[in-house]
Amino acid sequence: MFPTTRLRRMRTNEKIRDMFRETSIDIGDFIYPLYIEEKAQDGNPTEIPTMPGQYRYSINDAVEYAKKLEQKGLTSVILFGIPDHKDEVASSAYDPDGIIQQTIRKLKEETNLVVIGDVCMCEYTNHGHCGIIDDDGYVQNDPTLEYLGRIAVSYAEAGVDVVAPSDMMDGRVSAIRSALDENGYINIPIFSYAAKYASTYYAPFRDAADSAPSFGDRKSYQMDPGNFNEAIREVELDVLEGCDAIIVKPALAYLDVLREVKQTFKMPTIAYQVSGEYSMIMAGIEKGYITKDLMYESLLSIKRAGADMIISYFVPMIIEDLEK
Ligand code: PBG
Ligand code: ZN
Repeated sequence: MFPTTRLRRMRTNEKIRDMFRETSIDIGDFIYPLYIEEKAQDGNPTEIPTMPGQYRYSINDAVEYAKKLEQKGLTSVILFGIPDHKDEVASSAYDPDGIIQQTIRKLKEETNLVVIGDVCMCEYTNHGHCGIIDDDGYVQNDPTLEYLGRIAVSYAEAGVDVVAPSDMMDGRVSAIRSALDENGYINIPIFSYAAKYASTYYAPFRDAADSAPSFGDRKSYQMDPGNFNEAIREVELDVLEGCDAIIVKPALAYLDVLREVKQTFKMPTIAYQVSGEYSMIMAGIEKGYITKDLMYESLLSIKRAGADMIISYFVPMIIEDLEK
């Protein structure tokens, strides 16, 4: 008891604090999102206005950039495509020569990165929703599953290491698992965005990936931010359907969910620090309201809450810091 026990003793200097810090972050903890745009020109990536420091790359530039990050210790990337052609059924998403399929092939030839393909339809549909819509604009669950399977298989054919469905249809993990297995891809893991909320934190991403819905919102398929129990049920179903890792998204505002998911299921668990989380911190830094330390604090908090890996746009900034 006080005064014999003084917790401040272990905080007296930086060395001792460093020795006993319970959580740390390392470049190996990260997955970096790459945006590849069909009409982007080599050597001229477009900066995303709402995400300072993030770009839409051509295939060649994306691969070159990924190589650089790999040399600095990055182990994995997740790919998002911005195709030229969009239609009702997202045909560019499962085109064997689609933007993502070509990028996968080149990344697998030229790097040793773990290449994850985000599986969804919203970047490829002309209406911007994550599935097939009916005449009333309602996103139809079961008809969408077949397309998701098709996308996953076409990524697998291109050589992807992992598929990550982000659409939030019911039953998609088992549909994708069957599609992959039937085509001989029994060893391709599924990282499921099992607990994905209908979040306004995605706004900069929709700008970046040109995937905002042209009408309505995503609330009939993504989760309500007020719900916690439902997230656990979502994850439970995906685990039963055979997913290999769980993604919780967004991250910082949903750490309660992240922690519970990790503790309950003991699954490999990934947090997605989404575009809005990145852009808020970047805006704060640019304005001088906060410092870059907030980036580290946010990442450390996500890890402390239970994330095994973090998908984050901060990867280049962390690497830049490591080099100092
Ligand atoms: C599309 C998708 C989204 C994100 C990843 N995949 C956006 C959405 O659901 O509208 C968000 C990523 C981010 O904000 O960084 N299914
Ligand atoms: Zn989508």
